Amino acid sequence: MSRKIYIFDTTLRDGEQAPGIHLSVKEKLEIAEQLEKLNVDIIEAGFPISSESDFKGVQEVSKKIKDKGVAALARAIPKDIEAAGSALKDASRPVIHTFVSSSDIHLKYQFKKTREEALEMARVAVKMARNYTDVVEFSAMDATRSDWDFLCKLFRVAIESGAKIINIPDTVGYSIPNEYAKLVEYVKNNVKNLEDKIISVHCHNDLGLAVANSIVAIEHGASQVECAVNGIGERAGNASLEEVAMVIDTRKKDLKVHTDINTREILRTSSLVKYLTGYLVAPNKAIVGKNAFMHEAGIHQDGMLKERTTYEIIKPEDIGVKSSKLVLGKHSGRHAFVKRLEELNFKLKKEDIEKAFTRFKNLAEKKGQINDKDLKAIVENEIRDVSEYFKLDYYQVLSGSNIKATSTVGIIVEDGLKQSAAYGDGPIDASFKAIDMITKLDTKLEDYNIEAVSEGKDAIGSVRIVVSSGGTEVMGSGISTDIIEASIKAYIDAMNRIVEKI
Ligand code: KIV
Ligand code: ZN
Repeated sequence: MSRKIYIFDTTLRDGEQAPGIHLSVKEKLEIAEQLEKLNVDIIEAGFPISSESDFKGVQEVSKKIKDKGVAALARAIPKDIEAAGSALKDASRPVIHTFVSSSDIHLKYQFKKTREEALEMARVAVKMARNYTDVVEFSAMDATRSDWDFLCKLFRVAIESGAKIINIPDTVGYSIPNEYAKLVEYVKNNVKNLEDKIISVHCHNDLGLAVANSIVAIEHGASQVECAVNGIGERAGNASLEEVAMVIDTRKKDLKVHTDINTREILRTSSLVKYLTGYLVAPNKAIVGKNAFMHEAGIHQDGMLKERTTYEIIKPEDIGVKSSKLVLGKHSGRHAFVKRLEELNFKLKKEDIEKAFTRFKNLAEKKGQINDKDLKAIVENEIRDVSEYFKLDYYQVLSGSNIKATSTVGIIVEDGLKQSAAYGDGPIDASFKAIDMITKLDTKLEDYNIEAVSEGKDAIGSVRIVVSSGGTEVMGSGISTDIIEASIKAYIDAMNRIVEKI
C-alpha cells in the first residue's frame, strides 16, 4: 500500500525570507496560482504579523486559492495568531502554523524563556489558533538541537491543545540522515494520539542534506514535507520541492509512498520562481538545472541514442522538459554528430562525414558547444568537391593602431610549403596580398562579406567573397571563430576554384 506524502510549500514564506528576495503581492499570487497547478497540498503564503505586504499576500492568496490549504505563520504569541487568523479570513482551507523554540540554545540566549514557559506558550497559542481554524500546525523551532524528551513533551502539549500537524524542523540544517531518522521515530513512539495527526518535517540545507533528511524522515514515519521551489529559503535554503517530489516519484516502489504533485508542472514552476525572485538556478542543479537532461560525453550520447534509460533515470517530459538534449561539444562522439547531421537533413558521403567530423572536433576545441548553425556552416563550407591546389598551413598577422599591418602566410602547394609576407591596409588585405604572391594568379576581389552564423562572443564568422580573374568570377567561402582565418580560407578557396576553371 502506498502512503500519501503531503507537500507543504513554503516558497512564499521561508523562500521569500532568503536574502534579497522581495515578492510583491501580485507576484505572490502568480506563484500561488502556479503552485495550485503543481498541486501542492498546502501553500504557506506568508508571516502576516511581520509586514503589511506579508499580511496582504496571505489575504490575497486566501481569496484566490480555494482548492488548497493556505497557511500563515505566527509566533506563539496572541498578536501573531490574531494577525494570521485575520489574514486567512477568506481562505477556504486555512492553516495556522504557530511555533516556539524548543532548544535550550534558543530558549536561553534568544528568547530568555524557561522550558515551562515555552510549554505554556505552545498551549495558549494552539488553543487560540483553533478559534480560527481546525487545522493548526505546531512547529518546535530548532527541534534537532533540542532535548528529545522535552521536544516530545512540547508536542504532547500541542496535540492536547488541538494541533493537527506537528513539525520537527531542522532549523539550522545541522542534522544528519541517520540521526534525523531516529528523531522522527522517537517522536512517533513517544507522543501519544498521533494516529490521526500528521508528522511534518522542515529541513534546511546548511550541510546540503535537506532533501536527504526529508526522505529518511518519510521512511521513518513523516507524512508531510515542507519545501520550497528551487530550494530557496533562509541561508542555504530549504529542501527543494522538485527534488523531494522527484525522489518520491522515481523511487515510489521502494519508498512505498507517493505525492499528488503534478510533476509536469515542475519546470514551469521553477522557471517562474527563478524569474520572479531573481535567484538563478545552477546549470547542474538536480531536476531543473539546464544541464539536467543534457548529454555531451561521447559514451553517454552513444548510450542515449541506443536506449534512453542507459543514462537517464527521469523522462524529461515528466517534469515538463520537451526532450533530452545531446549537445555537441569537444567530448562528443561520431554517433551523436552523425545523428544530428541526419536530423538536419544532410546526406553526406562517408569520407565527407570524416572530414566534417574532424572539422567539428577542431572547432569544438576552440568554441566549446557547437550549435546547429555552426554545423550547417561546417558542412556547407567544408564539404565541397573542390580540389585543393592551395592548402593553408599557417598564418601570422601583426596589426595595431600605429603600425602597418603585416601578414605571413604558409601555403602547401604541389611541391611543398611556400611562404610569403606582405603588408596592407589591415591584416586581411595584407594576408590576401601574401597569398597572391604565392599563387601568382591575376585576381581582383569583387565582393567581401562576413557574418556571424551563431550567437555569442565566440560565434563562428562565415566569410564569403567574390573574386574575378580574366573575366571569370568565382565565389569562395571560409569559416572560423577567427575572422582573419575565415577570410584567408575564403580567399584560398576562391583561388582553388579559379585554378579549376582555367
Ligand atoms: O526553520 C524553521 O524552524 C522555520 C519554522 C518557522 C518552522 O522556518
Ligand atoms: Zn525554516
